[in-house]
Amino acid sequence: MTTTPTAGRSTAVAARATELSKIYGQGETRVVALDQVSVDFRQGEFTAIMGPSGSGKSTLMHCVAGLDTFSSGSVRIGDTELGSLKDKQLTRLRRDKIGFIFQAFNLLPTLTALENITLPMDIAGRKPDKAWLDQVIDMVGLSGRLSHRPAQLSGGQQQRVAV
Ligand SMILES: Nc1ncnc2c1ncn2[C@@H]1O[C@H](COP(=O)(O)OP(=O)(O)OP(=O)(O)O)[C@@H](O)[C@H]1O
Ligand SMILES: [Mg+2]
Repeated sequence: MTTTPTAGRSTAVAARATELSKIYGQGETRVVALDQVSVDFRQGEFTAIMGPSGSGKSTLMHCVAGLDTFSSGSVRIGDTELGSLKDKQLTRLRRDKIGFIFQAFNLLPTLTALENITLPMDIAGRKPDKAWLDQVIDMVGLSGRLSHRPAQLSGGQQQRVAV
């Protein structure tokens, strides 16, 4: 994937990649998934990344969300350079600032739907607001499936648990 930088606009940048490259493997299996990608994601906007299968969309999102390492370039979330963070700081930033819906959802198979939904807060040692939790679960139509495990859910239900 290659891009050109977006022209300067006034709203704050939520996340930014600068000349970001990601190379998988080496020798015959070497793949340049990201080739000097520079892109801004602005606050208060929805941004869609479009491109052919295998062009590097998921790789870009994983790198910008601090879920994967990159080969060169830099990534900034708000005012924080990801490259400057230690593992623990990166974990905390991901937990507090980033919501990520994986292409393959990545629900934990041994946990119920409800446990998967509250997992990030459980790990952070926080209690969800019960009224808000009930409202969100109702809104996405999962009320009747909360004690099911991911394998017992439809693809769409798994996707909504991830959301
Ligand atoms: N772990 C890996 N090791 C080696 N190559 C990889 C790895 N992950 C992805 N790739 C390669 O990097 C390229 C980009 O993959 P990526 O998953 O980012 O594509 P994508 O744009 O999200 O595709 P899709 O639309 O199919 O989801 C692909 O050519 C893929 O084969
Ligand atoms: Mg993908």
